[in-house]
Amino acid sequence: MNAAGEAIRVEDGSLRVPPQPLIPYIEGDGIGPEISRAARAVLDAAVEQAYGNTRRIRWVEIYAGEKAQKLMGELLPRETLEAIREFKVALKGPLATPVGSGHRSLNVALRQELDLYACVRPIRYLPGVPSPLKDPQDVDFVIFRENTEDVYAGIEWERGSPEARKFRELLKDHFGVEIRPDAGVGVKPISEFGTKRLVRKAIAYALSHGRKRVTLMHKGNIMKYTEGAFCRWGYEVAREEFPEQTITEEELFSRHGGKIPEGKVLVNDRIADIMFQHVITPPREFDVIATPNLNGDYLSDACAAQVGGVGMAPGANLGDEVGVFEPTHGTAPDIAGKNVANPTALILSGALLLDHLGWTEAARLVHEALARTFQQKRVTGDLARLLGGTEGLSTDAFAEAVVENVQTLSETEEA
Ligand code: NAI
Repeated sequence: MNAAGEAIRVEDGSLRVPPQPLIPYIEGDGIGPEISRAARAVLDAAVEQAYGNTRRIRWVEIYAGEKAQKLMGELLPRETLEAIREFKVALKGPLATPVGSGHRSLNVALRQELDLYACVRPIRYLPGVPSPLKDPQDVDFVIFRENTEDVYAGIEWERGSPEARKFRELLKDHFGVEIRPDAGVGVKPISEFGTKRLVRKAIAYALSHGRKRVTLMHKGNIMKYTEGAFCRWGYEVAREEFPEQTITEEELFSRHGGKIPEGKVLVNDRIADIMFQHVITPPREFDVIATPNLNGDYLSDACAAQVGGVGMAPGANLGDEVGVFEPTHGTAPDIAGKNVANPTALILSGALLLDHLGWTEAARLVHEALARTFQQKRVTGDLARLLGGTEGLSTDAFAEAVVENVQTLSETEEA
C-alpha cells in the first residue's frame, strides 16, 4: 500500500476515516517520549494484525510542552491546536504544568481551546493485573466527566483579595448572605447547556456500545441548583431526545419486571457519596456514569486504583468533532528517562482512539494482547511491586512483549 495519508473528516456529524489516516501525536514531557514510542509500536502492530496492509496509521508529530518550548519558543503553539482541529484526533502524552504563578495548566488550556467537554475514562479490569478487589473482573464501566464547568472553571479568589472582599460584600448587600471575612471564595457554575451535551454524549455512547445503563452521579440533595439541576437536566435529555431508547428506574419495575429490555438503556441517578461504596460493592451495577467535574475527578482516580492504578488508566477528551486521547497520569518526573514507566495507560488511550475511529477489531486486539501479557506476569516495575516475586520489565521490553502477543493473536481468538 503506497498511498499517502489523508485527514479524517467529519460529515453529517460522523467521522469519515480513510484507510491511512493522518494521526497527530504529542510525545509529552517526562516519561512521555518513552511511553509514546511504546504505545505507537503496539497500536501499529494491532492495526497490521487486524487489517493486514489495507489500513495503517500515518503518525504526525506535533509539539506541546517542553519540546515545543525548545523547538518553537512556546509551550502550546497555535500550529498544534490547528493540527488537532484539522486532523480531528490526537494521541497525547502527559504534559508538565510549569511551576510558578501565571501559568495555566497546558492540559486545561488544550481542553478549553478545543472545547473538549467530555472527559471519558473507561475503568476496566484486565486479567492478571493486581487489584485490591475480591472480584475485580466485575469492574467494567465508563465515566463521562464534564470537563469545562463546575470547579474546573477555576473561578475563585484568594482570601483577603479585593475580589474576595467585593464578592463578600455583594453577597451581603444583595442576598443577605454572610461569609467569614477570612474566607477564600469559589464559584461552581453548572449550566443546562453544559450538562445536556455531556449526558447526550454519554447516552449515545451507551447505545452505540451495547451498554445497558447510564447513571447520573450528583450531590443534588445538598447542592440543588447545580448538582441537583445536573440530575434533572440529565433526565430531560433522556426523556426528550431518546424517548424510545431509554427507560427510568420506575418504568424498569412498573413495566418491565426489573429487566432492562433489549436495545434500551436504563437512565438512573445516584448520590455522589454512596457511589464510592457502590463502585466497590458491587461494581457490576454500572455501565456508564455521567457526572459533573469534581465528582468525576475523585471517582475516576479511586476507580483506577481498582484496576491497577494510574499507570493503567486511559482517557479521552471529546468535543463535538475533536478527540484528544491521553492517559490519566502525569509526567512521572521521578522515573523519567529510566525506561521503567508503564506505557499501558497510553496504549489503552490509543485503543480508545482506535475504537473512536471504528477500528474496533484492532482495539480489541490491544486489550487481549495486554491481558495476555499481564497473565504471563510480564509487567513493568509498578505492577511487579504489587504482584511481588517478579522482576519488572523495562518500558521497551514490556512493549515488545505486547507486540509479540498482538502478533500471535488472530482477530477472532479470545485471550
Ligand atoms: P504523576 O501521575 O506524574 O505521578 C504520580 C506517581 O505515579 C509518581 O510516583 C509516578 O512515578 C507514578 N506514575 C505515573 N505514571 C506512571 C506510569 N506510567 N508508570 C509508572 N509509574 C507512574 O503525578 P504528579 O507527580 O502529581 O505530576 C507530575 C507532573 O505531571 C505535573 O507537572 C503535573 O502537572 C503533570 N500532570 C499532567 C497530566 C496530563 O498531562 N494529563 C495529568 C496529571 C499530572
